[in-house]
Amino acid sequence: MTTPLIDPFQRPISYLRVSVTDRCDFRCVYCMSENMTFLPKKELLTLEELDRMCSTFVRLGVEKLRITGGEPLVRRDIMTFFRSMTRHLDSGALKELTLTTNGSQLARFADDLYAAGVRRVNISLDTLNEQKFADVTRWGRLPQVLKGIDAAQKAGLRVKINAVALKGFNEDELISMTEWAAERDMDLTWIEVMPMGDIGNEDRLDQYWKLSDLRAQLAQTYTLTDLPERTGGPARYVRLEETGQKIGFITPLTHNFCESCNRVRLTCTGELFMCLGQEDNADLRAALRNHPGDDAPLEDAIRAAIRLKPKGHDFDYSRQTVDGRVSRHMSHTGG
Ligand code: GTP
Ligand code: 5AD
Ligand code: SF4
Repeated sequence: MTTPLIDPFQRPISYLRVSVTDRCDFRCVYCMSENMTFLPKKELLTLEELDRMCSTFVRLGVEKLRITGGEPLVRRDIMTFFRSMTRHLDSGALKELTLTTNGSQLARFADDLYAAGVRRVNISLDTLNEQKFADVTRWGRLPQVLKGIDAAQKAGLRVKINAVALKGFNEDELISMTEWAAERDMDLTWIEVMPMGDIGNEDRLDQYWKLSDLRAQLAQTYTLTDLPERTGGPARYVRLEETGQKIGFITPLTHNFCESCNRVRLTCTGELFMCLGQEDNADLRAALRNHPGDDAPLEDAIRAAIRLKPKGHDFDYSRQTVDGRVSRHMSHTGG
């Protein structure tokens, strides 16, 4: 029996998020700058190395694996990696294999994902207005994403929509997006915008839409019932009694959920970030590459890293300033 991964605050670590590429076919304004410099390909872990990394985490007790990016589906041959993870689902060691995607490539990959054992996908979509979608993603086109969503549902994948709550941007779509999600039997989760990347302080404060306000607005139209259920992520859910649908809230700013954190993040170069909101990280690539055929040093490096997991983030806008900012872009660690 291996000892499970427990951090210094007695939190068991059972959820690994893996960013398989820092590249993306969109340039969302709150996530990337317009002129991003991406990592040279030789810096990336190969698909075989990603397999070895993830398999080691699974051996150490990780039960939930979420593939992120950048946009994970733009990484070349990524289906090979998904298919290689199926064996951990088959053995029962892994309970869930899933991904967070912008949806642009789902028309191509939805069936293959289902065949690899994926049952649920989180798709990022902040607006249903074509022009606003083009503005917020800079490079994206809404119809392509809607086709991706259709394909995912047709393939049998359960879809959750993730929308970043942005003041003056999608406030007026709160009800229309809720209705759209209900019609299509999709869950919808709202996320408070976090101070990551190189966006100016004032812009960030202007964009910030508290989910406590969003919730109050929702309650003017619907009856909200708090739900106890958890998906192993940070979202807290309510049911709308009128439609029966689930709405999630991810509230890093208004309600810190770090005390129940169960996750760490691996980047495409093999850095392990112990917290989304802190700079602490460990280089696992060296432990992996310097010891081909021997996973013991990698296991030791993972355990050593988990012992350094910070208590939580320091994001704070409450004094009308942006505190706890992290200069890393969200695409580096995958959200
Ligand atoms: P479920 O499995 O559906 O619960 O997904 P999840 O919420 O774990 O994953 P998802 O990729 O949908 O996460 C949505 C967003 O929530 C991320 O992109 C981040 O913006 C935010 N988020 C996820 N985990 C954390 C976390 O540990 N800390 C903070 N501050 N934000 C997080
Ligand atoms: N704050 C909150 N969420 C963000 N995302 C990207 N950048 C930010 C940010 N600064 C979200 C995306 C996607 C997920 C991967 O992270 O919209 O849903
Ligand atoms: Fe976990 Fe850090 Fe996110 Fe808090 S901010 S929930 S500690 S990853």
